[in-house]
Amino acid sequence: MLVSAKEMLTKAKAGKYAVGQFNINNLEWTKAILLTAQECNSPVILGVSEGAGKYMCGYKTVVGMVKGMIEELGITVPVALHLDHGSYEGAKKCIEAGFSSVMFDGSHYPIEENIAKTKELVGICNELGLSLEAEVGSIGGEEDGVIGAGECADPNECKMIADLGVTMLAAGIGNIHGKYPANWAGLSFDTLAAIQELTGTMPLVLHGGTGIPADMIQKAISLGVSKINVNTECQLAFQEATRAYIEAGKDREGKGFDPRKLLAPGFEAIKATVKEKMELFGSIGKA
Ligand code: 13P
Repeated sequence: MLVSAKEMLTKAKAGKYAVGQFNINNLEWTKAILLTAQECNSPVILGVSEGAGKYMCGYKTVVGMVKGMIEELGITVPVALHLDHGSYEGAKKCIEAGFSSVMFDGSHYPIEENIAKTKELVGICNELGLSLEAEVGSIGGEEDGVIGAGECADPNECKMIADLGVTMLAAGIGNIHGKYPANWAGLSFDTLAAIQELTGTMPLVLHGGTGIPADMIQKAISLGVSKINVNTECQLAFQEATRAYIEAGKDREGKGFDPRKLLAPGFEAIKATVKEKMELFGSIGKA
């Protein structure tokens, strides 16, 4: 069964650890993350971007695949299926398709419009028992080869959005998606502390979990971060493992091409990456 992320994140915030959101792209990704969460007795959030949702043949297909896997693999740890960086329309589609959690990223709208749209979604999600993540202050990343620095959110705007009754809040604190540039200034802990002070018990979300040094992750958790998103690191692990397999000529061994064998090293690499992150975030044994 899929659950809202509310309870797992409330517990994480109180217990000073973070639940990992790992983005999924296909069956192997999903199976690797679910099995690792079960082996680690850890709650987990499966993230689905709008692009990944399209690739996997739409949100209904994703819901069917994830629910089927939870049952067939005997997964008993709490699993939330969450739309990542959703548009307003995307959030509504995912709610209809059966996601248990959605993110509405209104950070590119003027704050008034972000508030109005987030407020409407709070009403819908509350009625259905779903969790809702909102964003303030855009999270940078690579676009057309240019790496933008992560923006720092205005703590007062964060409070305005938090007060609408969202479940969790993603606030930019200098974090960016993908690989960090060599001259990255690091996370702004002053901004994080100011946001935490104004938003109280609200679980805070750290996007761009790939490549943030372990000590910064731990400090962020101590300052109120209770959900950390990881995507690129699983992609890189999958890529490296698959490349090594092909370069060693293993895909040409035996009789004929077997896609299941080709994808197996990447599957194991994702499992190892997820376990390593769960250890760092402190969520092992917290299911
Ligand atoms: P990374 O790709 O940097 O791990 O970020 C993931 C993320 O924040 C998804 O929303």
